[in-house]
Amino acid sequence: MKNTKFSVITGVAGTIGSNLAGELIKSGHIVYGIDDFSLGKKKNLEFLNKSKKFKLIKCDVSNFEELKKKILLKKKINYLWLLAANSDIQAGIKDGNVDLVKTFMTTKVSIDFFSKYLSENSKIIFSSSSAVYGNIKKKINENIKIYNPISYYGEYKLISEIYLEDFSKKKNLKYLIIRFPNVVGPPLTHGVIFDFCKKILKKKYLKVLGNGSQKKPYVYVKELISCMIFLSKRKTKFKIYLCGPNDTGVKVRKIANEVVKIFKSKKKIIYGKTSYGWKGDVPNYNYNVTRLNKEGFKFKKTSLQAVQEAIRQNKTSLVNEKN
Ligand SMILES: NC(=O)c1ccc[n+]([C@@H]2O[C@H](COP(=O)([O-])OP(=O)(O)OC[C@H]3O[C@@H](n4cnc5c(N)ncnc54)[C@H](O)[C@@H]3O)[C@@H](O)[C@H]2O)c1
Repeated sequence: MKNTKFSVITGVAGTIGSNLAGELIKSGHIVYGIDDFSLGKKKNLEFLNKSKKFKLIKCDVSNFEELKKKILLKKKINYLWLLAANSDIQAGIKDGNVDLVKTFMTTKVSIDFFSKYLSENSKIIFSSSSAVYGNIKKKINENIKIYNPISYYGEYKLISEIYLEDFSKKKNLKYLIIRFPNVVGPPLTHGVIFDFCKKILKKKYLKVLGNGSQKKPYVYVKELISCMIFLSKRKTKFKIYLCGPNDTGVKVRKIANEVVKIFKSKKKIIYGKTSYGWKGDVPNYNYNVTRLNKEGFKFKKTSLQAVQEAIRQNKTSLVNEKN
């Protein structure tokens, strides 16, 4: 018991958080998972209901007073995983406060609150995003320091990174920033595959946001979790990592075609006119993942394989839900 690792995950009921909790418990961690269930669902964590190693706490992590009331830990945290954020793109476009609170304050307040439970051996792992770069013409690597986010989400992820770096340096804490590309796989809570699968079942047409030429890298969630755990355990040379497969991504047009094919649907695909999906969407980017590969981790699935597997899995869960 003495050597059992203790992890705290914010945003545990979401796509990434629920998978991460499962894998950490499998590898022996005790996990306290926190979520306000604003976007994630309790049912995503049902598989952990009987686990003695998992504790679920309903709490808004952007609210310091609520954290103080609900959380009193008896031991130091080994790993603090900061995943709580806004994933409702439409809400974030309409109102800048959504990402201020759900993307930045969730991170800042969690760092402030949990710092008293951290020691020099603990590690804070922050889930950042390609959105911090905005529209960038060249292949992205970690040495590029040009940040031009074009969404509130991207801006607040960037500010969160800066806050985490600054705080950790002042308090002598270890931290890791992982910038994810698009993450797909069960349980899907949002995103292009979630949207297309819903449309193919419920709408007359599969209406695509944008002209379909948007091209981005995708990672399958299970592989992303392996990557996060791999990096968390290492004395990494760097503090920031891009993660993803070594390819140039998949076009949205291809994803729409794959959805039609996998669902064996005859529905027509209708494309928009813009080169981007929505205001704040970065239509094209790709990652140079040499730093991650040199550290010793390579994604096995290509972006296309990740997309195909996620569509198949989502089809199965939608069919099961219906029955
Ligand atoms: N999924 C992707 O493609 C992707 C890409 C880049 C970065 N990320 C980042 O990874 C993290 C996890 O993403 P995800 O795909 O699992 O999203 P998700 O929406 O499925 O999970 C986020 C979780 O945070 C919770 N949450 C939101 N506000 C909260 C609050 N105030 N208090 C407590 N919980 C709160 C939500 O209820 C949800 O369960 C996020 O930080 C996200 O920005 C995701």
